[in-house]
Amino acid sequence: MSQLKIAVLVSGGGTNLQALIDNIDNINAEIDVVISNKKDAYGLERARLNNIDAIYINPKDYQDTEAFNDEIIKELIKRNIDLVVLAGYLKILSKKFISSFKNRIINIHPSLIPSFCGKGFYGLKVHKEAIKYGVRISGATVHFVDEDADTGAIILQDTVCIDDNDTAETLQKKVLQIEHKLLPEAVKLFCEGKLYIEDRRVIVK
Ligand code: GRF
Repeated sequence: MSQLKIAVLVSGGGTNLQALIDNIDNINAEIDVVISNKKDAYGLERARLNNIDAIYINPKDYQDTEAFNDEIIKELIKRNIDLVVLAGYLKILSKKFISSFKNRIINIHPSLIPSFCGKGFYGLKVHKEAIKYGVRISGATVHFVDEDADTGAIILQDTVCIDDNDTAETLQKKVLQIEHKLLPEAVKLFCEGKLYIEDRRVIVK
């Protein structure tokens, strides 16, 4: 199988992007471009520091969400992108985006889906809600992206324990540590052609 081309979409710091960059030598793929809707996203800087094309697309330059998404789709198609990785990307993808890259978009979420996910669950809020609910275990999920928020087929999950003295901030740190292993692992499996979707289950072969 020839090397796949990955695009990573980020809105923030990009530590998951960094984990991918650090592990890319073990993966049959290259990160072709990093795209952000935020001019000052540190993820863009991480790309530049690693000689990866970094593109800022300002949503305000477009008439509506559809047109903004169309611009990203155009860029991805121009570059023959095989896999889109959402790594802390906070914009909703248009239906057209999702259908153009059906089963070729993956996202990482900092909880055990289907808990503490969906619209509005991002950043510290996810961890605050997990602690507030009193769950003893949280974790991270890598999943395919479908039309709804955080509902696509689950590729990999891993867990962390929540201790009595954990705060949203300490839990976020613990979860990020497992995210940084889980995301490259899932991308590697995808790039090796080992992921098969049956109904809503992902079978790893
Ligand atoms: C991560 O917690 C990820 O699960 C979520 O957004 C956060 C991004 O963090 N989707 P970073 O920008 O990769 O550091």
